[in-house]
Amino acid sequence: MTCRRGALIVLEGVDKAGKTTQCNKLVQALQDSGQTAEMMKFPERTTKIGQLINSYLENKSNLEDHTVHLLFSANRWELMPLMKEKLEQGISLVVDRYAFSGVAFTSAKPGFSLDWCMNPDKGLPKPDLVMFLQLSPSEAAQRGQFGTERYETTVFQKAVQQKFELLMKDSSVKWQVIDAARNIEDVHADIKNHSVDAIKAAENEPIGELWK
Ligand code: TMP
Ligand code: MG
Repeated sequence: MTCRRGALIVLEGVDKAGKTTQCNKLVQALQDSGQTAEMMKFPERTTKIGQLINSYLENKSNLEDHTVHLLFSANRWELMPLMKEKLEQGISLVVDRYAFSGVAFTSAKPGFSLDWCMNPDKGLPKPDLVMFLQLSPSEAAQRGQFGTERYETTVFQKAVQQKFELLMKDSSVKWQVIDAARNIEDVHADIKNHSVDAIKAAENEPIGELWK
């Protein structure tokens, strides 16, 4: 019997949409139903590259905009062998942000095209499903103040949301918009159903290459 591969499932969305909460709940639910699943997140702040990114996000250092974009991408590439290994072992990966955040956040800055931003992530393992947790800026604001990290302002998040909307038009990626304004359990049930379907569909498909 050949080992069925795991699925690569990504959650995206603007800040306060509930991505981290939902990633944790999804991994737990999949494990409870007998599936092997693990969580990952980007940026992965524990590597050397991740530490540079962390210090930038905490406003403890400044980096040139192109440079930090490439560091975020390099942070995904350095985890690529591990991701592939786990998927091939049959472990499904639930990932909190991926290349879509990379493109949406940098292209929301002046002078960056979507195309330039997408290039360094071309060829990464392609998600079998990307769920976009949709929450309007006013609903997000009701969930409380933003933190103190770079990018956590309403004006910037609105620009990021518009870039995500452009990315969702790309039909080479399987997008699913999730209404994140509902209560945690309803959002979770929705996310779990889509994930179970994606895991089934991925079993007999090779791992794809993103944006290629
Ligand atoms: P986090 O709060 O989910 O840890 O994400 C950290 C911030 O980094 C968040 O504001 C989104 C941003 N980001 C990028 O700018 N580029 C990327 O490639 C990723 C993954 C996140
Ligand atoms: Mg954050």
